[in-house]
Amino acid sequence: MTEDHTVEFETYQLPLAEHNRPAAGEVHLWLWSLDDLAQRLMPAAHDGTANLPISVLTRTRRMTGRFFTRMILGAYLRLPGKAVHIIRRRRGRPELDRNRHGDRIRFNTSNSGGWQALAVASDMPVGVDIEMLRSRRDPLAVARRYFSAGEADAVQGASSKEQNRVFTAMWTRKEAVLKAIGCGLAGNIDRLRVSAEPNASGQVLSDPVSGQKWALHRIAPVGSLVGTVAVPQPEVPQPEVRVRGIRLTSRA
Ligand SMILES: CC(C)(COP(=O)(O)OP(=O)(O)OC[C@H]1O[C@@H](n2cnc3c(N)ncnc32)[C@H](O)[C@@H]1OP(=O)(O)O)[C@@H](O)C(=O)NCCC(=O)NCCS
Repeated sequence: MTEDHTVEFETYQLPLAEHNRPAAGEVHLWLWSLDDLAQRLMPAAHDGTANLPISVLTRTRRMTGRFFTRMILGAYLRLPGKAVHIIRRRRGRPELDRNRHGDRIRFNTSNSGGWQALAVASDMPVGVDIEMLRSRRDPLAVARRYFSAGEADAVQGASSKEQNRVFTAMWTRKEAVLKAIGCGLAGNIDRLRVSAEPNASGQVLSDPVSGQKWALHRIAPVGSLVGTVAVPQPEVPQPEVRVRGIRLTSRA
C-alpha cells in the first residue's frame, strides 16, 4: 500500500523566536533558500550570492546552512546559535552534544540546488534527503550501478521521461533512511529496498541494515526540489508520525 504523505509548509520569517520542541510523534522540517538567508549574513553584498565564483558560492552556502541549523537548534534549546554544541559521530553524522544539551533533540540536514532542509525530532532518530530534480544523463545506468536488480528494473519500467523522477524518489528514500540510521551510503544503498512509486510516500520494503521499519514522508515544497523524511514506523496503536513543514525566509 502506498499513501501520499506529502509534507505541507507554513512560512516563518526571520528573526526567529524561541520554538517549542517537536511533540512526541512529530517532526519539524525546516527548509530555507541558502542564497536568500546568506544575504542576512552578508548585508553589505547588495547583490547577495548572484555573482559569486562557484567555489565561494559553495562555501557561502555551506556556512549559511550550518549557521541557520545552529540558530534553529538554539531556538529549541533557548540558546544563541553559538552556544549550541554539535559533535560528529563516526560516519560524520552531526548530533547535539548530549553532555551539554541532553539527548532529547535529534536532527538531520540535507542540501541541494541552493536549498537546505533540517529535520528535528524529539526522542527518535530522523533522516532527511533533498535533491533538485535535474536532467541526469542516464538515471538507469546509475540505478543499475547502485540499486538492486529489481529496483533498477522498476526504473527501466518507467517511461524515458519519468525515469529520472522515479530514480530520484527512490534515491531520496534510501538516503533519508540511511541518514536516520547514521551510516553511509557506500555498501548499504543497494541493501535497502524501497518502493518505486514516484509521487507517493512509498515504503521501505526491507531494511537489512538496521532491521527497523520506517515511515517515509515525501517533500516537494518548491519547483523541482524533491525529498524524503524518514522516521521509525510507530508500533500500532500509536498515532502516526506527523511532519510539520516550516519554510524560513528573510522576508514575507
Ligand atoms: C551522509 C551522506 C549520505 C550525505 O550525503 P550527501 O548527499 O552528500 O549530502 P546531504 O546534503 O544529503 O547531507 C549532508 C548532511 O548530512 C549529514 N550527515 C553527514 N554524515 C552523516 C551520516 N553518516 N549520517 C547521517 N547524516 C549525516 C550532515 O549534516 C551533512 O551536512 P553538513 O556537512 O553541512 O554537516 C554521505 O556523505 C555519506 O555516505 N557519508 C558517510 C561517509 C562514511 O561512511 N565515511 C566513513 C569514514 S569516516
